[in-house]
Amino acid sequence: MLFGSSIIHLTTVDSTNNYAAKLLKENLLSSGAVILADVQTAGKGQRGAQWEAKAGENLLFSVVLRHVNMSVGDQFVLNQLSALAITDFLGKIGISAKLKWPNDVFVGDKKIAGILVETNVSGAQIKDVIIGIGLNVNQSDFNDLRATSIFLEGGSLSTIDEVLNELLKGLTTRWLMYQKEGKDLLLHYYLENLLGYQELRNYTIEGNEVEGKIEGLDEWGRLLLKIGSETKAFDLKEISYCW
Ligand code: BTN
Repeated sequence: MLFGSSIIHLTTVDSTNNYAAKLLKENLLSSGAVILADVQTAGKGQRGAQWEAKAGENLLFSVVLRHVNMSVGDQFVLNQLSALAITDFLGKIGISAKLKWPNDVFVGDKKIAGILVETNVSGAQIKDVIIGIGLNVNQSDFNDLRATSIFLEGGSLSTIDEVLNELLKGLTTRWLMYQKEGKDLLLHYYLENLLGYQELRNYTIEGNEVEGKIEGLDEWGRLLLKIGSETKAFDLKEISYCW
């Protein structure tokens, strides 16, 4: 399966994920197709948030995978491999990035990329997948947002087309690795890059600051945090990193 088998480049769209979903419904996209946009008027983030990016300065795209036939329980694998493809690429251009669970990409305490995976499910199987990626490339001003870009971090490669090409290669590599080796190896690399893995740091849980150590993820992708001598599983709404 090749990521980037075809590329539709739009000047403006509401959201590349929405556009991909629309074309998928009409059966107009083959596996690996990319929707790329210069501007999104209603870019979507996780949990109903908006994704803001200055026009023409950042990479905004969605890539579609068709008929993947993965189990619904494995959806998190898609986030993991996408996040790893981004950190792999940033590493190659001299930017040391970390993954903030579940799938934000951070440089220090600033976000450089976000991922929104959406799926079509039939029974217990994932059929089609839309992986939406926003990567800050040339934007130099984020107002009050805790955000950064390749340009601000002094990365060595900065045209949006080059970044897209490299990222599509990286996604293909990580996808093939998952197909060949399965999800355990992917999890191993994910944990290796995870902010706070096996380190004592503070998290906010039910409004309280708690010290804990990330020990791993459970089979549903929940965060396993050791607090004192007890390890508990948390989902996204229950825990956040403290800075
Ligand atoms: C997040 O961190 O909240 C996820 C952000 C995902 C943003 C990308 S930009 C391209 C694609 N289209 C969207 O509407 N969202 C994703």
